[in-house]
Amino acid sequence: MLTPTDLRTEYLTDPIGIDLRTPRLFWTCEGGISQTAYQILAQRGGETVWDTGKTPGAGMAGIAWDGPQLGSRELVEWSVRLWDEADRPGPWSTATFELGLLDSAEWLADWITGNYRPRRNRRYPVDCFRKGFTSAATPAVARLYITACGLYQASINGHRVGDFVIAPGFTSYDKRLHYQTYDVTDLIHQGENTLEIQLADGWFRGSIGAMGARNVYGRETKLLAQLEITTPDGVRRTIGTNKSWQWSDDGPIRFADMKDGEIVQLGRRPSYRGSARETSHPVVPSASNNVPVRERERFTPSITRTPSGKQLLDFGQNIAGYIELDIAARAADRLLIRFAEHLDDNGELDPSSAQVRAGKPTASPKQEVLLLCTDGVNHYKTSFAVFGFRYAEVDSDLALDPADVTAIAVYSDMAQTARFECSNHLVNRFVENTLWSMKSNFLDVPTDCPTRERAPWTGDLQIFTRTGSFLMDTSALLRKWLADLRDRQRADGRVPCLAPDVRNNEYIPGIDFIKRMDGAAGWADAAVLVPLRLYELYRDKEILRESYESMKAHVLFQIGRTDRTGLFAKPFPKPDRKYISNAGQAFGEWLEPKDVYAQKVPWDFIAPHPEVATAYLAYACGLMVEVAKLLGHDEDIPLYAEYHRGCTRAYVNQFTPIDTDRQSKLVRPLALGLLDGVEAEQAFTRLIASIERRDYRVGTGFLSTPLILPLLSRGGRTDIAYRMLENEQAPGWLHEVLMGATSVWEDWEGEASRNHYAPGSVCQWLFETVCGIDVSGENAFTIAPQPGGTMTYASFSYDSVFGTVASSWVRDGGTVKYRFTVPANTTARIRLPGGQVEDVHAGVWEYEENAFVRSE
Ligand code: BGC
Repeated sequence: MLTPTDLRTEYLTDPIGIDLRTPRLFWTCEGGISQTAYQILAQRGGETVWDTGKTPGAGMAGIAWDGPQLGSRELVEWSVRLWDEADRPGPWSTATFELGLLDSAEWLADWITGNYRPRRNRRYPVDCFRKGFTSAATPAVARLYITACGLYQASINGHRVGDFVIAPGFTSYDKRLHYQTYDVTDLIHQGENTLEIQLADGWFRGSIGAMGARNVYGRETKLLAQLEITTPDGVRRTIGTNKSWQWSDDGPIRFADMKDGEIVQLGRRPSYRGSARETSHPVVPSASNNVPVRERERFTPSITRTPSGKQLLDFGQNIAGYIELDIAARAADRLLIRFAEHLDDNGELDPSSAQVRAGKPTASPKQEVLLLCTDGVNHYKTSFAVFGFRYAEVDSDLALDPADVTAIAVYSDMAQTARFECSNHLVNRFVENTLWSMKSNFLDVPTDCPTRERAPWTGDLQIFTRTGSFLMDTSALLRKWLADLRDRQRADGRVPCLAPDVRNNEYIPGIDFIKRMDGAAGWADAAVLVPLRLYELYRDKEILRESYESMKAHVLFQIGRTDRTGLFAKPFPKPDRKYISNAGQAFGEWLEPKDVYAQKVPWDFIAPHPEVATAYLAYACGLMVEVAKLLGHDEDIPLYAEYHRGCTRAYVNQFTPIDTDRQSKLVRPLALGLLDGVEAEQAFTRLIASIERRDYRVGTGFLSTPLILPLLSRGGRTDIAYRMLENEQAPGWLHEVLMGATSVWEDWEGEASRNHYAPGSVCQWLFETVCGIDVSGENAFTIAPQPGGTMTYASFSYDSVFGTVASSWVRDGGTVKYRFTVPANTTARIRLPGGQVEDVHAGVWEYEENAFVRSE
C-alpha cells in the first residue's frame, strides 16, 4: 500500500513558529509504484478545516495550503493518504506545523539591554537577565518567542530552553532579524518560576570576518523575549522583556567572542542586582523558517604531551564546534585551552592557518578558552563561541582525563542526504572530508572556513551548492541565505562578495577593500547560480521566483560593465568591446596550484578579469533565458538572449584560440558552453594535452574545479577524469588525504585554511557521473553510471525531495553489474555506458547481460 513518508512543511519537519501564511506541504512515499491521487485533511483544535477530498495527481512536493487563512500561533495537524496505481487508497500519515507571531502588534515585549553605555573599544562580560513569574496553573501550552541582537541562551527554572545554539543565527540585523519559537510547556510549573537569559556579543558586536572587525551591527547588544503561557482554561498570559527585568553582568562568562573564545569563572552566579534598560530596534523580527544550529557529533580525544610539555588533545577530526569537560580542581586552578587545525613540524599546536591577515601572522582569532576554577568538580561547556579545530592544547597544572573531555561538532542541522562508497578508500575519505568541511561551514550561513574568516563568501557557495545539496538537505538553509543575499544586493543590482556583511575590508583602515570587489565575476554570480542549482535538485519554482528580481538585477548590473575599460585594463577593439566585461575588480580563477599560476597580490584583485567576467556574463545570460521561460518572464528574454549571443561571440573573437597549459583557461569556455564546432574541439584536445603533460595532476583553481571532471565526461573522456581524481600526487584531492587531511584544504599546497568546502565540489562528479544520478524533473531521475578508473565498485544513494534514489555497480572480471533503486511515484531513465537506454518506474532494477530485470 502506498504510504506517505517524511512529511514536511516548507522543507521542515513539524516546525513550530514558521511565518509563511500559505505553507507548502511535502511528502515522499513507499510501498507502491505510483501515486494517482492524494487527500489532505487538516485539523485545527480537533476541527477539520481543510479537506482536499480525493485529488487526482502525482504531486508530492510543494502542495500549497488552500484551507482557511491561518493566523498567529495556530497549530495545524495535517494528514495525507495516497491512492496507488491500482486506485487503492493507502494509510494516513500525519504531521504538524505551527505558526509564529505574524503581526508586529503581537510583540508585546520591549527590547531590553544591559544597563550601561557601551564604548567602542571596550569588551564587556555576558549580560544576564532574569524575570520571576507566577503561573496560576500548570500550563496547557507555553511558548517562548525570542531573539537578540547578539546571541542569547535562555533557561527556565534552571533548564536550558531548546537546543538551538548560537541563536538567533546570522542575518543583516539592520534589515532582517529572526526569532525562534520554543515549546516550553514542560519547563513551567504551577507557582513560582524563573526565566533567565544570557546575552553575548555574537556576530552583532563581537569580532567577525577576516579582520576581526567589531561592532559591525552596533555597539548595544539587546534582547527581545516573549513568554506566552496558556492555562487549561484557555487564558493566555504574556511575560515579555521590559524594564522590570533584573540585570547584571557579573555572571560566570567574563568574556565571550565567537572567534576569540571565552573567559569563564566557573561556579559564579550573577547577582542580578541591576535593572534592564529599555531600548529599541528598527526591524520587526520574522521567523527564520530554517533548520536550527545544533550540537551534533561528539569526539573524545587522545591526550599526549607536546615537546614543550603542554597537554595535547587530538580529537581525530577537524571540525567546527567547541568542548565540554569536567575536572576536579581547587579555587586557584586555571586552564588555558587553545584550539587549532594542525600541529607544526615539532608537534606543537600551530594556529597559523587561522591566525593570518593579508598574508601576515596575527594573534587573532584567538580560539581559546580560559577557565578559572572553583573548588570541587568543575563543569564547562562553551556557550557563545565556535572554533575550527582538530587539536587543543591545555596549559594547566591540572591533568585532563580523556574520558572527561568531549569535542562537539556544531552546525546547522540539515539532514545528511547522500551516502557514497567505492573501492578506493582514499576517495571515500575525500568525500567524508568534504562532508566535514560542509558541516564545519554551515553555521546558519554558509562560510569559507571556520577559523580565519568564517565569512559568508558568495563565490565559495556558488561553487559548492550542487555538491552540498547532494550531501545534505540545504533547501531551508539556502532559501534563507538567498534572502540574506537579497538584503545586501545594492539598488544598482550589484551583488556582494559576502552576505551577510562581515566587513572583511580593513586591510588598509578606512578603505573598503572587499566592498570594492562586490560584483566580482564568479562570486556575484551566486545570485543566479545558487537558486538555479537548488532548482535543479529540488525542482521548486517558488525558490526561483523569490530570487528572480535579484537574478535579473545582477545580470543587468553585469551588463553595465560591458563596453567600458576599467582601471588598469587594456581596451578591447570595436565591435567586440560592446560585449566584453572589462570593468570592476574581481578575483579571477582564484587559487590555482602555485606552479600553474601564482597570484599577484594585490594586482590581480585590482585589475578587471575580462576573460572570466565575459565568460560568466555570457553563461548567466544563457541561463536567464531558460529561467525567464520557466517563470513566464518572456519580456526579459530578448535582452538576455542578445547578451548571451553577443558575449559568446566577443569571447570567441577575443580569447580564442586558446593555447595554454593553464587548465582553467580551457575549462571555463568549454564548461560554460561558449565554444562549439572546431573551437570546442581544439580547446578540448588542448585541455587533454595539458592534463597529460601535467601527469593528471589538478591544475584548476576555485572556479573551474567543479567544472573539469563533468566536462571531461561530457566530452567522452571519463577515463581521464578518473585518472585526475584518483591521482595521488600533489596537487590533487587524494594527495590531501594521504597527507592526513580530515577536511578539505583551501589551497592545493595546504598552506592556508584546512577547512574550505569549495575544492570538495569535485564530489558532484562522483554522484552524477560515477554513479550517474541526477534529478531530471518533478518525480523524475536520470541514472547514467560510468564505471572506470581503479574502482571495482561504487554505490551512491540520495534522499532526494522525491524519495531515495540509488545507483551502484560492481565490476566482476570483465563484466559490470548494476543495481538501481527508483523510489515510489517516480520514474527514471537509465542509460548504460554501452548505449542501452531504458525507462523504468519505481522499484529495484538490476542489469545483467543486456536485460533489465526488476528484482523487487
Ligand atoms: C576566502 C575565500 C574567498 C576569497 C575571495 C578568501 O580569503 O577564504 O574562500 O572566496 O577570499 O577570493
